[in-house]
Amino acid sequence: MLRMTDIHITFNAGTATEVKALRGITTDINEGEFVTVIGSNGAGKSTLLSTVVGTVKPDTGSVYLDTDDVTDWSAAKRARHVGRVFQEPRLGTCSSLSIEENLALAAARGKNRGLRLALGKKGQKQMFAEHLEKLGLGLEHRMGTPIGALSGGQRQAVSLLMATLLPMKILVLDEHTAALDPSAAHKVLTLSAEIAQERKLTTLMVTHSMRDALAYGTRTLMMNAGQIVLDIKGEERSRLKVTDLLERFGRAAGTEIDDDQLMLT
Ligand SMILES: Nc1ncnc2c1ncn2[C@@H]1O[C@H](COP(=O)(O)OP(=O)(O)O)[C@@H](O)[C@H]1O
Ligand SMILES: [Mg+2]
Repeated sequence: MLRMTDIHITFNAGTATEVKALRGITTDINEGEFVTVIGSNGAGKSTLLSTVVGTVKPDTGSVYLDTDDVTDWSAAKRARHVGRVFQEPRLGTCSSLSIEENLALAAARGKNRGLRLALGKKGQKQMFAEHLEKLGLGLEHRMGTPIGALSGGQRQAVSLLMATLLPMKILVLDEHTAALDPSAAHKVLTLSAEIAQERKLTTLMVTHSMRDALAYGTRTLMMNAGQIVLDIKGEERSRLKVTDLLERFGRAAGTEIDDDQLMLT
């Protein structure tokens, strides 16, 4: 379980550019839950994800992974449990290295060298090929290709694989399909859902698309001005349409939603 209790984060405190990015975030996310996160620009979505990954420390409040209080754990220490895929395909992978080399880097991360030792180089390559085959993109036949030569969608698929290669628990996806064309985005979203389900990962996925927020996952959080203003799951969520979500957001946030900020489809 991922637990956050009363998290507050203020950037540039006490200066003219002070921003209260998170204002009292408390939530429990159960093992295997797939949570989609929506909210307008600046609502605090990425900051929330960064608190889970460990790249931003809360001013007050705590983060728990199962029974461990990980609030003071570095991002490197958390990386054994938490994998992240960024919006920009270039950020998660190394362009000049091949698919195989990128996967080898991911395998070597988090001090999990036992994997390589146990499998040997040939066994490791075989394991990568099996994982790549599951993506259904034919990348298992192109393991020597530099990542930079792949399309954005292929690259995000490899990033997903890298983030989830080692045993881990929490998958954090920050608008990871926003830079892709609709068909590649659909493919990567489907892969994300499949990997999360197969590995029983607890997943947090920020999306700009209201429709994707309802189509994927098991629970939806809506953020506004550093707070969670809606938390919907179960039967209530399954009945919800994009128009209902918009209406609920308007009520919760006390404002009309700006059409430019959230994709309505
Ligand atoms: N490192 C930072 N330094 C200063 N302000 C930041 C930093 N990161 C985020 N912010 C500010 O915090 C607020 C929330 O940002 P963010 O979490 O990125 O929102 P979202 O992902 O929902 O668009 C915004 O006003 C943003 O400008
Ligand atoms: Mg963001």
